[in-house]
Amino acid sequence: MKTQKTTVGSINADVLAFTAGRDVELDVNLIAADCVGTAAHVTMLSKMKVKPAIITEAERKKVIKELKAIIALAAEGNFKIRLADQDVHLAVERTLTEKLGDLGKKVHTCRSRNDQVAVDLRLYAREEILGTLDEAAALISALLAFARKNEKVPMVGRTHMQPGMPSSVGLWAAAHAESLLDDCALLVNAYELNDQCPLGSAASYGVPLPIDRELTADLLGFSRPSHTVLYANNGRGKLESIVLGAMSQVMLSLSRMAQDLMLFTMPEFGYFTLPDELCTGSSIMPQKKNPDVIELVRARASRVKACELAVYDLIKGSPGGYNRDLQDAKEPFMEGIAMTRACLRVLAPFVQAIQVNKKALLAGFTPDVFATDRALELVGQGMPFRDAYHYVKETLGELANMDPVKAIMQKTHLGAPLGIDWELLKDRVIAVTETVREERRVIDTAVKKLLK
Ligand code: ARG
Repeated sequence: MKTQKTTVGSINADVLAFTAGRDVELDVNLIAADCVGTAAHVTMLSKMKVKPAIITEAERKKVIKELKAIIALAAEGNFKIRLADQDVHLAVERTLTEKLGDLGKKVHTCRSRNDQVAVDLRLYAREEILGTLDEAAALISALLAFARKNEKVPMVGRTHMQPGMPSSVGLWAAAHAESLLDDCALLVNAYELNDQCPLGSAASYGVPLPIDRELTADLLGFSRPSHTVLYANNGRGKLESIVLGAMSQVMLSLSRMAQDLMLFTMPEFGYFTLPDELCTGSSIMPQKKNPDVIELVRARASRVKACELAVYDLIKGSPGGYNRDLQDAKEPFMEGIAMTRACLRVLAPFVQAIQVNKKALLAGFTPDVFATDRALELVGQGMPFRDAYHYVKETLGELANMDPVKAIMQKTHLGAPLGIDWELLKDRVIAVTETVREERRVIDTAVKKLLK
């Protein structure tokens, strides 16, 4: 039987390949995080009040220097994780040992790969969530700019997809922006739950030496350590499903906007036109101009949800403590986030480029669209609403076509087409970008100090 030597003993070659799975590729995304986490752990070890010291201050400096070298190599795409390493954690430890000899063998004191990967994923997640919030804010701003510009452009408001009441293009776009603002709140919520450091929980049950978990949390710029060492590990998978839950809400918003856009850019509607360069053609039908981008956004919403469910199903009913199953959450986690972010990025310029066709929008206004407005006009003259409703219903044929612009100009109450509080929406976007800026500042300050 073919066996292969690894950092932690010889393993049957097939078993090694099977158990490492896709970690060798996926962990490339975690190299910097693994080094930063290791830097915090080693710094904490060097501050432990034990004699003899586990790691001295001079040794700490040497380790940090090598960790920085690995981060630099990784940034150029030149740090290799080998199959014999199994994953990024042992690749980093092997490299440190190659460079520093026995000192490299000390870095794993009071730590397990279980808390190591848990902290790596949280470091990864916090960057990704902040990036997602930034990209969401950009799309929301684009939607709000579009909405404001078209505040007084009438559009038939629909329910059941059927013509309903006079509405506006501004209301349509502002509503999609508001949906994404709620998603940002979910992302911020996920960020706060992610903002707890599992380091020091080791295999799942802590260690019999006086480590300082508050210190490592602090060094990494986390708000606090996660509390129980067991939940620090049980929280893996759950955290991923929380983050993906927020991502899939973003995708829910995007897919609904995409669907509206598909409908309203159909020639039969012609409300909006998409510029040629954002559409694709057909290999056989020369005239085709297809909205593939928004169709794929719709498809990706299903796929991100599938990523969330994949993680959920993986951990549902799983026993407490670390289980290797958790490794398989990595792929859907990274994929789901990447897909969401790509959709946000592709849609911001898309929204900016939508052309609004006022003529087609006005042509959608048939007299029946004003039926409710007419009934309410009669209410204004003193008729009870139900009587006005029946009166208009019975005389629908007599409804005159009203002026759609005038109709929407009368809807001025809170949140109505001409009652949109642009400041309120803008303030919510600003709050998102400020949260991102503040969190980045905390992270950068901590990491810079740690790697000094
Ligand atoms: N690559 C592993 C993972 O993602 C690292 C942890 C391995 N731990 C273990 N006890 N085998 O879960």
